[in-house]
Amino acid sequence: MINDNPGFGPSNISSHLGTQRSQKVWAIGGGKGGVGKSLVTANLSICLALMGFKVVTIDLDLGGANLHTCLGVPIPESTLSDYLSKKVRSLSELVTQTPIANLSIISGAQDDVGIANLKQMQKAKILSRLHELDADYVLLDLGAGTTFNTLDFFISADQGILTALPEPTSIENTYRFIKSVYHRKLKLVEDLLEVGPLIDQAMNAKISQNSTPADLIDRVIEINPQMGHKLKNEITQFSPKLIINQVRTQADIDIGFSMKIICRKYFGINLDYVGYLDYDATVWQSVKKRRPLLMEFPNSGLVGNFDRIVHRLMSLN
Ligand SMILES: Nc1ncnc2c1ncn2[C@@H]1O[C@H](COP(=O)(O)OP(=O)(O)O)[C@@H](O)[C@H]1O
Ligand SMILES: [Mg+2]
Repeated sequence: MINDNPGFGPSNISSHLGTQRSQKVWAIGGGKGGVGKSLVTANLSICLALMGFKVVTIDLDLGGANLHTCLGVPIPESTLSDYLSKKVRSLSELVTQTPIANLSIISGAQDDVGIANLKQMQKAKILSRLHELDADYVLLDLGAGTTFNTLDFFISADQGILTALPEPTSIENTYRFIKSVYHRKLKLVEDLLEVGPLIDQAMNAKISQNSTPADLIDRVIEINPQMGHKLKNEITQFSPKLIINQVRTQADIDIGFSMKIICRKYFGINLDYVGYLDYDATVWQSVKKRRPLLMEFPNSGLVGNFDRIVHRLMSLN
């Protein structure tokens, strides 16, 4: 077990230990590959584990699983494929301890399953069984893309966390992801509140190329204020978290604030900018050594970045 501790000591453990467990699920997704989702998942998991929480981190990047590398462990023998093909009966049987105390991993499938091909039943099965894991926190590395399955894991989590790079393509992808999540969420709320016909009516009433999702809600309010406000409440409670990764300048850091403003204006969504991560050569050095970053470089500036983000996220639960 590795117990060297880069600043997340027992002094940081507050009253949660010893109280009745309520498991929290954090999902890390957004954008395309290479934006740091696995790095973020691995190191947030390590931060929580070092604080004394039991953490299970799950590689849901089915088909492109590499979370184990960020944690410095070989690919675990049993993977989610074995669960989905019923070779093993419970998720707990897939848990592999990492060299870091309190932190275990469930590995994604290494075959061509792909998260896009997960059947509704399989997804529901995974989601409904997470609570059986012996964990205070379950972190999901969602992988790239905006397939319904990825969006549903993101929406189902207690916290949905997006990682983006401060460059136009990544920012565009992030908006695309947020928009897809928004539509998916709207659809789910629509079914729940049975306001589908109202939304259709609102859409038909004033179709404009430039209308935003926020305009849509306003139109529903015009037609039926009571239902419209309910819908608005549901949507405003939805607050994805944003991390800007690989920042080099203050302008890079500020991109997160601009994205927050744009999301409010165009989607009516409260995008919560929870922090940034510096561009740091220790990342690839640790990847090359197949050692977890926070353990290999406890004095890296990224430790402070992660510390701030993890405390911010914990304060929201
Ligand atoms: N903050 C950073 N500083 C330097 N390099 C980084 C940083 N974040 C990620 N990288 C590099 O980007 C690569 C992709 O990161 P990864 O977490 O695997 O992305 P994803 O899971 O989104 O595909 C890593 O191998 C690493 O070399
Ligand atoms: Mg990855």
